[in-house]
Amino acid sequence: NWTMSTFIDKEIARIREIVGPKGRVIGAISGGVDSSVAAKLMHEAIGDRFHAVMVDNGVLRSNEAAQVHKMLSEDLGVKLTVVDASDLFLSRLEGVEDPEQKRKIIGNTFINVFEEEGAKLEREAEEEEAAALKAGRAHEAKGKYEFLLQGTLYPDVIESISFKGPSATIKTHHNVGGLLEDMKLKLIEPLRELFKDEVRALGKLLGIPAHLVGRHPFPGPGLAIRILGAVTRSQVEILQKADQIYIEEIRNAGFYDDISQAFAVLLPVRAVGVQGDKRTYDQVIALRAAQTTDFMTATWFPFPFEFLCKVSNRITNEVAGVNRVVLDISSKPPATIEWL
Ligand code: XMP
Repeated sequence: NWTMSTFIDKEIARIREIVGPKGRVIGAISGGVDSSVAAKLMHEAIGDRFHAVMVDNGVLRSNEAAQVHKMLSEDLGVKLTVVDASDLFLSRLEGVEDPEQKRKIIGNTFINVFEEEGAKLEREAEEEEAAALKAGRAHEAKGKYEFLLQGTLYPDVIESISFKGPSATIKTHHNVGGLLEDMKLKLIEPLRELFKDEVRALGKLLGIPAHLVGRHPFPGPGLAIRILGAVTRSQVEILQKADQIYIEEIRNAGFYDDISQAFAVLLPVRAVGVQGDKRTYDQVIALRAAQTTDFMTATWFPFPFEFLCKVSNRITNEVAGVNRVVLDISSKPPATIEWL
């Protein structure tokens, strides 16, 4: 008789057994459902011996790092450090247009930043431990960071076992193998037996707000693969604004839960427009909304005409640097969901 609350109890007991009474766990938080749920579960199991790290890579959605900080740290009590590494990421991405190159740079830079933060936390843990021992409070001393939390789901487990064909390399996904070796950490994966809908149910039980639990997936390389040309801070800001308007209108219209993944894309072309009595020479935003069950094939969401008018008007009026909005009406295949 498997229920979600018995799952929580069993998994908390299992985590406590694996980590032991003093061990510490570190985990990277993306702001997505999986890592947030995994983090909250870990916090329930071992409290402040779990430390979450969120890396702001400069290509997150508008206000993302602050929102995740509020939700995880202030509302849910998870110990969290947000590392603003946006300058480093953006400087390494300078002039890079090739999508696979962007993915590699972001993946590698993420590992560098996370390792550096991990080393910092490790030093702090050692100092804390020494202080507790010195003060004769050995019972309060905690151990070293021994484990890395991953929000891996069952489908990811299966994919990594069986998915060795060429399709696995169509787009490079993040890989934590090197991270584990370098930091000498062991993997801990509390969600490895769950499907996405189960993780959402679990998140709700753990008190994660509904709007977050039902969020569309967001790729690790973030807005960098939705800016079709070179990534700069100003390009990121344009896309953040357009995307925010688009998603806000989708939520207001009540379509969010009917769509699997919606986002705006910034095209590197300039088109002529007119504003007042001036010619403009600005960029183009494409709107994507995919409907899919498995993300392997997808169709596009049939927005009503009035909705599209509203979004288009808002984006061209409110986002400086954009004078056209186009709608992506391509299925997967032959297109993919992302443009890069
Ligand atoms: P495509 O574009 O291949 O996308 O149809 C399928 C799903 O995968 C996501 N995606 C990524 N996720 N790193 C990620 O973490 C990536 O490099 C990446 N590329 C695509 C995409 O957002 C969609 O949900």
